[in-house]
Amino acid sequence: MREEDIKLVHYDKRGEKNLYPVAHFGKENAFKVNAFHRSFPEYSVTPLVSLSSLARDFGVANIFVKDESYRFGLNAFKVLGGSFSIGSYLAEKLGMDIDSVSYETLISPEVQKKIGQLTFVTATDGNHGRGVAWTANRLGHKSVVYMPKGSAPERLENIRALGAEASITDLNYDDAVRLANQHAEKYGWVMVQDTAWEGYEKIPLWIMMGYTTMAYEAVQQLKGEKPTHIFLQAGVGALSGGVTAFFAALFGDKDRPIITIVEPNKADCIYRTAEADDGKLHFVTGDMDTIMAGLACGEPCTIGWNILRDHADNFISMPDYIAAEGMRVLSNPLGADQRIISGESGAATVGFVSEVLRNPQLAHLKKALKLDADAKILCFSTEGDTDKENYRKIVWDGLYPRNEG
Ligand SMILES: Cc1ncc(COP(=O)(O)O)c(C=O)c1O
Repeated sequence: MREEDIKLVHYDKRGEKNLYPVAHFGKENAFKVNAFHRSFPEYSVTPLVSLSSLARDFGVANIFVKDESYRFGLNAFKVLGGSFSIGSYLAEKLGMDIDSVSYETLISPEVQKKIGQLTFVTATDGNHGRGVAWTANRLGHKSVVYMPKGSAPERLENIRALGAEASITDLNYDDAVRLANQHAEKYGWVMVQDTAWEGYEKIPLWIMMGYTTMAYEAVQQLKGEKPTHIFLQAGVGALSGGVTAFFAALFGDKDRPIITIVEPNKADCIYRTAEADDGKLHFVTGDMDTIMAGLACGEPCTIGWNILRDHADNFISMPDYIAAEGMRVLSNPLGADQRIISGESGAATVGFVSEVLRNPQLAHLKKALKLDADAKILCFSTEGDTDKENYRKIVWDGLYPRNEG
C-alpha cells in the first residue's frame, strides 16, 4: 500500500458499557460555555451553510458546513477554546463560577487589580496562538507564543499584531509544546495548551469544552434536523473529541450520528492509535510536512483520544490532495450554494466527502461509511484562508491536483 492511500479503521462501541464519560460536554455545559462567548462584543453566530446543490450532485440528502472563518474576526474556530479556558482559569482565581463571569467582569478595574497582569504561553501552528493572543490582549494580559519550524509568516504576523511576543522556532509542533511548558515553569507563566497529557488536563478540558459552542450553534441552526453523519478533522484530537462528546451526550450513544475522524497521512497519530488498538497512544515524529498545518500534530490529546476511542466510528488517514480538493469544491459553489473560503485544515473533511462520493475506486469506503441517498452530512470548516499565499496556489493555480490513483 502506498503512503498516499486513504486508509480506514472502523470501531463499533455503541451500546457498550463504561464508555468514557461525556457529561462535561453536554447541552447544559455547552449553554454555559456559549453564554461566556456571547459576553464578548465580537461574538456572533457563524453561518451554517446548506450546500444543497452540491448534495444533489454528490447523491446525498444534504451537506451542511459550519463556516468558522467568521469566528470573532479571527478566521478560525480556535479562539473558542483559548477564550473559554482563560476565562475559566481567571474565574477560578477569583473564586467564582464561570456562570457568573463575563467579558465585562474580567475587564473591570476591580478584577484587573485583584488578578494583576498575567502572561499566558502556548505553542501553535497559528490558529490557537492567535486565539490565546487575542484573548490575553482583550482581557489586559500578556502572551508568549512559540510556533513550529516552517510556520507561515502571515500566521506569525497575525499573532504579533495582537501584542503577543511570538516567534517561529526550529522545533516541530510537539517539541514547541515542550518548550512552552518549560518556559511556563521557569518564568511562572500560565500554559494554555490545546492538547492534554498525563498531569496536564485541566486547561485542555476547558479548551475542549470551549469548542462545543460551534456544535451548540450548529444544532440550533439545524432546527431539529438531525445529521446522519458528522466529519471532523483531527490534529491532536481536542476539537474532534469535544464535538464528538457533545453529540454523544446530546443524542445518546446509540442514536448519535456516524462520526468520522479525518487526518493527513503525514500526521495521523489518532489513526495510528486507533489502528494499533493496544491501550497506548501512538506518535508520529519528524517534520510532518502536510499542507494541513493545523492538523500537523504527532501526539494525541489524552482526553480527546479517550472520547474518540469510545464515541467515534471511523478513523481516516488521507493524502494532502484531498484537502486541496475540499478547498476548491468550497470556493466553487454549484447552483445557488454559497461560497465558503476554507483553508487546508478547514476543508479536509469536505475534501474527504467529495473524494469518497465522486471517486468510483472508493465505493468500498462509501459503503463502509454508509453514505447513501439519505445521508445528511455535517462538516466544520474550521478555518478560512489563514495562509493566503498558499490558498491562492491551491485554489487559483491548482497546486496539489486531484489524484484518482
Ligand atoms: C483550522 C484547524 N482545524 C482543526 C484543527 C485540529 O484541532 P485539534 O488539534 O484539536 O485536533 C486545528 C488545530 O490547530 C486547526 O487549526
